[in-house]
Order: sequence, then C-alpha cells, then structure tokens
Amino acid sequence: MLLLLAPIPARGLDPLGAETCKACHPAAYEIWKESAHARALAALPERSRGDARCTVCHAPEGQKGQGGVTCESCHGNGQLYARRYVMRDRELARALGLQDVGEKSCLRCHDESTPSLGKWDHARKLPLIQHGEAEREARRAAAAAGRP
Ligand code: HEC
Ligand code: HEC
Ligand code: HEC
Ligand code: HEC
Repeated sequence: MLLLLAPIPARGLDPLGAETCKACHPAAYEIWKESAHARALAALPERSRGDARCTVCHAPEGQKGQGGVTCESCHGNGQLYARRYVMRDRELARALGLQDVGEKSCLRCHDESTPSLGKWDHARKLPLIQHGEAEREARRAAAAAGRP
C-alpha cells in the first residue's frame, strides 16, 4: 500500500470529462457550466478550434463534451481519483492525481500573452470562479452532526 503514496500522475489517460464529475458534484458543475472556462473553446473563432496553439489553453482536455477549460484542466486527470472512496481520502486522492489548484495553476494559462487588461491579480480572480461552496457546506454539516 505504501507505494500508493508516491504520486501516480494519470498522464496519457483520456480525461473523463466534466459530465462525469457532475454526477457527484452537481452544484460545482452548474456554476462551472455558466463560466468563461466552460465557454473557452466556443469563444475561439471557428478556424482556431483545432489549432493546438490555441487549444493548449482554451481546450487542453480536447473537444469532449463542450471542451473548454474543464474540471480536469485544473484538478488533474480524474481516471484514477474520481471514485467516492478515493475522493473521501485527501491523501489517497492526491496520490492518484488530484491536484491542489493554486495561483501557479492559473498562471499556466493566464500569462502575459493573453488579451487581459493588466497583470494577474489572484486575490481578485479566485473569487470569480468559486464553485466548491456546496461541498464545504456539506462538510460543515457533517462535522456539526459529529459525522466524519
Ligand atoms: C463517485 C462520486 C464522485 C465523482 C465521480 C467525483 N467526485 Fe470529487 N468528491 C467526491 C466525494 C465524496 C468527495 C469528498 C467530499 C468531502 O468529503 O468533502 C469529493 C471531493 C472532491 C474534491 C475536494 C477533495 C480534496 O481533498 O480537496 C475535489 C476538488 C473534487 N472532488 C473534484 C472532482 C473532479 C474534478 C471530478 C471529476 C474528474 C470528481 N471530483 C469526480 C465524489 C466524487
Ligand atoms: C497561454 C494561454 C492562451 C493561449 C495559448 C491562447 N489563449 Fe486566448 N485567452 C487566454 C486567456 C487566459 C483569456 C482570457 C483573458 C482575460 O479575459 O483575462 C483568453 C481570451 C481569448 C479571447 C477572448 C474571449 C472572450 O470571451 O472574450 C479570444 C477570442 C482568444 N483568447 C483567442 C485565442 C486564439 C485565437 C488563440 C490561438 C491563436 C489563443 N486565444 C491562444 C489564454 C490563451
Ligand atoms: C480554473 C480552474 C478550475 C476549474 C475549471 C474547476 N475548478 Fe474546482 N476548484 C478550483 C479551485 C482553485 C478550488 C479551490 C477554491 C478555494 O480554495 O477557494 C476548487 C474547488 C473545488 C471543490 C471544493 C473543494 C472543497 O471541498 O473545498 C470541488 C468539489 C471542485 N472544485 C470541483 C470541480 C468540478 C466538479 C469542476 C468542473 C465542473 C471544477 N471543480 C472546475 C479550480 C477549478
Ligand atoms: C487551461 C488554461 C486555464 C487555466 C489553468 C485557468 N484559466 Fe482562467 N481562463 C482561461 C481562458 C482560455 C479564459 C477565457 C475564456 C473566454 O473568455 O472564453 C479564462 C477566463 C477566466 C476568467 C474570466 C475572465 C476574467 O479574467 O475575469 C476568470 C475569472 C478566470 N479565468 C480565472 C481563473 C483562475 C482563478 C484560475 C486558477 C484557479 C484559472 N482561471 C485557470 C484559461 C485558463
């Protein structure tokens, strides 16, 4: 079992797609679906939607579903971690590819080459994509009821 503690990146595996995450995270999905990230592929001019120079940021997981910047573009490929018993175990989930999403993750795409006004302001941008409140609320309720 100890071997599992070494991160096993799920590189090379097909992404699951946002619809798979939706099954267990419906509230996060609905917020994401209305976001600029979900529309990032559609926002490209038609001739650029197959252009890897654009899709590297606008649809890094490919065109599955609605494409765009998907759950897995930030949280990591879900093939190995997107199971209930894995997700409940913070350490195991991370060993199986779940990534912590910090400022560095955003800067992978939000760099100087993008058509944004001004420098990246993480403290201002992060609240604009909040989508984990339902999960945090459920945890608070469970803790208050003395459940693990
Ligand atoms: C079969 C159900 C299921 C699927 C599918 C699923 N999750 Fe989860 N996820 C959970 C559960 C249960 C938790 C734990 C919630 C808790 O205890 O707070 C969780 C927690 C998380 C967390 C917080 C974990 C932490 O330790 O910080 C993130 C982020 C997350 N899921 C993202 C995703 C993404 C992205 C996908 C799709 C690739 C996905 N999940 C698919 C059930 C699922
Ligand atoms: C390094 C990552 C990156 C690459 C590569 C990239 N983009 Fe973007 N693009 C972004 C980001 C980030 C934004 C959003 C900027 C903002 O609003 O702060 C954006 C915004 C846009 C927008 C405006 C979308 C809207 O809804 O207003 C268009 C159009 C666009 N990009 C087209 C392209 C095209 C065409 C290419 C390929 C030639 C490309 N981008 C390559 C990251 C990238
Ligand atoms: C642009 C990157 C990005 C995308 C896309 C994204 N997330 Fe997140 N997600 C984050 C960040 C950052 C946080 C942590 C926010 C914080 O700590 O304030 C987070 C938090 C979460 C949490 C809550 C973790 C917890 O329990 O506190 C869940 C669940 C989650 N995301 C699931 C999803 C799902 C499902 C999708 C797709 C439908 C998705 N995310 C798309 C960046 C992203
Ligand atoms: C895989 C590339 C990628 C990553 C990673 C990414 N973004 Fe984006 N983001 C984009 C693109 C592309 C757009 C423009 C989409 C459009 O307008 O069509 C965008 C747009 C946005 C927007 C709306 C425009 C704006 O600037 O107000 C916000 C907010 C945003 N991203 C926040 C974040 C945050 C916060 C993170 C990190 C937690 C993050 N993004 C990570 C590619 C990315």
